[in-house]
Amino acid sequence: METFGEGSAAFYNLLVKLKLFDWAYGLAYKYIAKLTSPGSYVLEIGPGVGELLRRLERGGCKAVGLDASPPMLKYAQRRVPGVSAVGVSFKAPLRGGAFDAAVALFTVHHWGDHENSVEEVRRVLKPGSYFVVVEVDLRRMPLVGSHGCTEECLKSVLGRGFDTVVEKRFPLLVAVAKKA
Ligand SMILES: C[S@@+](CC[C@H](N)C(=O)[O-])C[C@H]1O[C@@H](n2cnc3c(N)ncnc32)[C@H](O)[C@@H]1O
Repeated sequence: METFGEGSAAFYNLLVKLKLFDWAYGLAYKYIAKLTSPGSYVLEIGPGVGELLRRLERGGCKAVGLDASPPMLKYAQRRVPGVSAVGVSFKAPLRGGAFDAAVALFTVHHWGDHENSVEEVRRVLKPGSYFVVVEVDLRRMPLVGSHGCTEECLKSVLGRGFDTVVEKRFPLLVAVAKKA
């Protein structure tokens, strides 16, 4: 698992303030809005500095963020106070069956323990609900190196326990995974 310290968090927050990733937050938000109704409980794994969390809350979701990095979460707390906590995807301190949807944007490639992480997301989702994963399409954008995924890789990571469809939204891949 890759850790984000004070320096990386300050830099990431600057990029977000400069609106560099707004297109990706907008895309991820649209998917969640389409798959949920107002008031739905949505878990974001790896919210970082909290911009997507802020949009989910503003859109009427009850959002919860779980992130491994306290420095990143410090900025998330400023954007949306009180909805995020420190924790790791592979051992989520969350009640089973509590969420109507989950989302992970630009973070699955950092997770490390993918098998247990995906099992944890499955555990906390209600039956029939969705997990949306957004990553840079490594085939179209090979320069991002380890900061992206291929369609095959996403399908294999989400394989167990989810019915997954991967949609291409250049330069991104969006996996829409339904809890089986
Ligand atoms: C590249 S940042 C993306 C942040 C945010 N999703 C965004 O798009 O602005 C990746 C984030 O995932 C978090 N992260 C990485 N591995 C994690 C894990 N196993 N469990 C929880 N958070 C994790 C990092 O601490 C970091 O905040």
